[in-house]
Amino acid sequence: MSKIGVILGSGLSGFTKELENPDVIYSELGGIHKKSVLEGKINGKTVFLFTGRNHFYETYSREKVFRNINLAKDLNLDFLIITNAAGGLNPLYKVADLMLIKSHINFFGKRIVQKPVRFSGDDVIKWARDCAVRNNLKVYEGCYIASTGPVYETRSEIAFLKRTGADAAGMSTIPDLLRANELGISTLGISCITNRLYSGMPVTVTHDEVVEAGAKAYKRFSEYLKRLIDDY
Ligand code: HPA
Repeated sequence: MSKIGVILGSGLSGFTKELENPDVIYSELGGIHKKSVLEGKINGKTVFLFTGRNHFYETYSREKVFRNINLAKDLNLDFLIITNAAGGLNPLYKVADLMLIKSHINFFGKRIVQKPVRFSGDDVIKWARDCAVRNNLKVYEGCYIASTGPVYETRSEIAFLKRTGADAAGMSTIPDLLRANELGISTLGISCITNRLYSGMPVTVTHDEVVEAGAKAYKRFSEYLKRLIDDY
């Protein structure tokens, strides 16, 4: 039987309340985001939920940044849904929209994994798209760009990011996707748009705004996740 895990991004960890009979199997204090791994059931299916992750802006240690994925490997998970909060660069995107990560741009400016990995993932995207269509949920597909942060983008950086052609911007997930790929775990990346990024925007984004919007997006996000888990 396949074992599935979900990494919950900023503002999205409320999904843990959906778990029946949760067991805490890992917990770590410290850092900006509280980290834990819970095992439980959703609609009768065993699922592992990861809350919080280490970011490159907190540590230079790959060991720490890869912790969730290495734990997923130790738990013998074979499929990971990796979620994040992201700023929407695509002008069509609104707060609380969801985007399947069809491709990404690694803008961390560093080599992340040892082995050359190659993404295809088209079958997983097709599966996730079909699931959204069947359940009448609107889900975009696009390109995610991530840099180290933790500073949210300046107006000039936003103008620059828009020119890369990426649809959503964040500070995580690419290390997760690469590490999982290196370890042979199949993945699906999903961005939850917590704020819009556009040239000439009046103020920069704040972390509180991102967390609040994550909570607003919760209904659609949790419904889609449950459908995906059911379907897998
Ligand atoms: N930029 C970078 N990371 C983010 C953003 C953003 O606007 N929103 C949520 N994570």
